[in-house]
Amino acid sequence: MKVLKGRDLLSLADLSTEEIQQLLQLATQLKAGQVHLHCNKRLGLLFYKASTRTRVSFSVAMYQLGGQVIDLNPNVTQVGRGEPVIDTARVLDRYLDILAIRTFDQNQLETFAEYAQIPIINALTDLEHPCQVLADFLTVEENFGSLAGLTLTYLGDGNNVAHSLLLGCALMGMNIRVATPLAYQPDPRIVERAKQITAGRTEVMLTDDPIAAVKDAHVLYTDVWASMGQEDSASTRIPVFQPYQVNEQLLTNADSEAIVLHCLPAHRGEEITNEVMEGARSRIWDQAENRMHAQKALLVSLLGTD
Ligand code: CP
Ligand code: NVA
Repeated sequence: MKVLKGRDLLSLADLSTEEIQQLLQLATQLKAGQVHLHCNKRLGLLFYKASTRTRVSFSVAMYQLGGQVIDLNPNVTQVGRGEPVIDTARVLDRYLDILAIRTFDQNQLETFAEYAQIPIINALTDLEHPCQVLADFLTVEENFGSLAGLTLTYLGDGNNVAHSLLLGCALMGMNIRVATPLAYQPDPRIVERAKQITAGRTEVMLTDDPIAAVKDAHVLYTDVWASMGQEDSASTRIPVFQPYQVNEQLLTNADSEAIVLHCLPAHRGEEITNEVMEGARSRIWDQAENRMHAQKALLVSLLGTD
């Protein structure tokens, strides 16, 4: 797929509906071993936050394509000592073919993209997690055959994962319901953008009522109540978020074929029960595996093959 070559992926809304469909189709073919692609390029990983899945799935995807990965751990590079982003970006641009960044501030990611010519991938910011949602959609498509017309309910904190789901569901013709405590609703700018994209064709619902949100939903999705960088507020969040826990009782309100997703890492007994995580409705391990297939499709699409 040449169509994305050289582009950045800073937000899921940087992709069109057709581009997401093509990425999912390519990811499916790669996963099934129907296509074998080669891309001898160099991927840099610049992660200011911890990561297991994103780090390993990007690395393995690149190695399987025949490329190389360089871990730019801020603890051992000059970025951790405060070298300006505008300098780092221009230097890394001279060595690497593509750079995946995990950081706090979306503006910092955008500065990297402004000063580096190579494609910059958002590997999670406080605002968005677009690579996660590509894998989520691959998982939903595997289970239901297609995406359009399905209802996805997200329960928890209205931050990065919820934001990319809002934009992604709007792009893919899915209904999205976001159930959060009122003080933790998604960023109104993201909600507005999702509404603009769907232009009334599908539902974009915000609510503080978890049971209404889950009614007849096909996908229940949750994430930690205290994200990376918010650990200090974890204990005050637990009682506020308790009604939004994904448990067997809540699941009875969903569609009888509903599946449960979680981006991981999970706090069992908080946002999701052990029973649901290990239960028949969980597709969480397929979802984690799909990070690798979706990102391999993304890397090939941004870099081209050789
Ligand atoms: N879901 C996800 O991004 O996991 P990591 O934080 O382990 O990369
Ligand atoms: N919302 C979580 C997602 C982790 C993949 C966080 O930002 O920590």
